[in-house]
Order: sequence, then structure tokens, then C-alpha cells
Amino acid sequence: MKTLIAAALSSLVVATAMPAAAGEAEDAAVKFRQQLMGGIAASATGVAMAVKGDEEMQAVLGKLTAMLAASADYDIIKAAFALNTTGETEAKTTATAKIWDEPEEFDAAIRKLADAAAAVGAMGADVSGAELKELFGTCKGCHDEFREK
Ligand code: HEC
Repeated sequence: MKTLIAAALSSLVVATAMPAAAGEAEDAAVKFRQQLMGGIAASATGVAMAVKGDEEMQAVLGKLTAMLAASADYDIIKAAFALNTTGETEAKTTATAKIWDEPEEFDAAIRKLADAAAAVGAMGADVSGAELKELFGTCKGCHDEFREK
């Protein structure tokens, strides 16, 4: 375990000491925003399961709503999509150029998600289908506009 961590750390040191290869920052950005979306999706799915009656999810519903509100944060999502990665990545991405061509529209879509997630977070364990419907509407709205099918 120790040697594994040491190896991981030393490769990190080497990686940071070397000049970044072309597209490296873009690939990292793609990976981060996909993982961020995955986290948002996980918490939203857990909340939906709880609202539909899943007892395991109901037992942690307050935590799930907090997780959702924390990860679907306006500033974090803004940061995740700050770098224009169009045509610059090895990593597979479904993000379209429209994100950076129409930044104000994309910004508004992030704001809608963040506001809906904050509303879910504010309800905590009392969240209902109404807040969830609003939330999932913001996912679809943005994906329809800014993601490849
Ligand atoms: C502001 C726009 C926007 C909103 C709102 C949004 N998404 Fe996304 N989402 C994207 C974009 C763009 C991608 C594509 C990222 C990429 O491939 O680089 C994506 C990708 C994803 C992915 C795939 C991640 C992967 O591993 O490739 C999932 C899952 C996802 N979103 C779930 C959600 C859920 C659930 C919500 C709502 C709770 C949501 N998204 C709201 C823009 C948005």
C-alpha cells in the first residue's frame, strides 16, 4: 500500500514537472466535468428512488439532498466548463461547441440547475416529486441544447 501511494505520488510529481502535452488540460477538464455530472446524477437518482419509496434511500435522504445541492453548485459547474475543449481532446466528449459559442445561454442553464438543486437541498428529507420534476427538467433542458445526442 505504502509503495503504491509512493508510486502514485512520484508519478504525480513527474507529471507536474513536465510541460503539459497538447490536449492534456482539455482531457482532464472533460474527465472532471463528466465525473461531476456522474456525481450529480447519482445523488439525483438516489433522491428520486427515495421519493418513489426505496427505504434504503429514504434513510439517507437528507444526506442525498445535501450532496446534490453541494455538487450541482453554480460556481463548480462554471469552473468545470470554463475551458473550451472543442476539437482538442482525446477523451470522448458529448459537449458541443455551443457551450462556448453561446456562453450566456449556457450560463442560464447552469443557473437553472443550481437553483433547482438548492431548492431540493432546502427541502431536505421533506423533498417531494414537485421539486424533483423541476430538477430533472433542468437536466433535460441543458442536455437537449448543449449535448450531442
Ligand atoms: C448546464 C448544462 C447541464 C445541466 C443543467 C446538466 N447537464 Fe449533464 N451534462 C452536460 C454536458 C455538456 C455533458 C457532456 C459532458 C462531456 O461529455 O464532456 C453532460 C453529461 C452528463 C452525463 C454523462 C457523464 C459522462 O460520464 O459522460 C450525465 C450522467 C449527466 N450529464 C447527468 C445530468 C443530470 C442528472 C442533470 C440534472 C440533475 C444534468 N446532467 C444537468 C450539461 C448539463
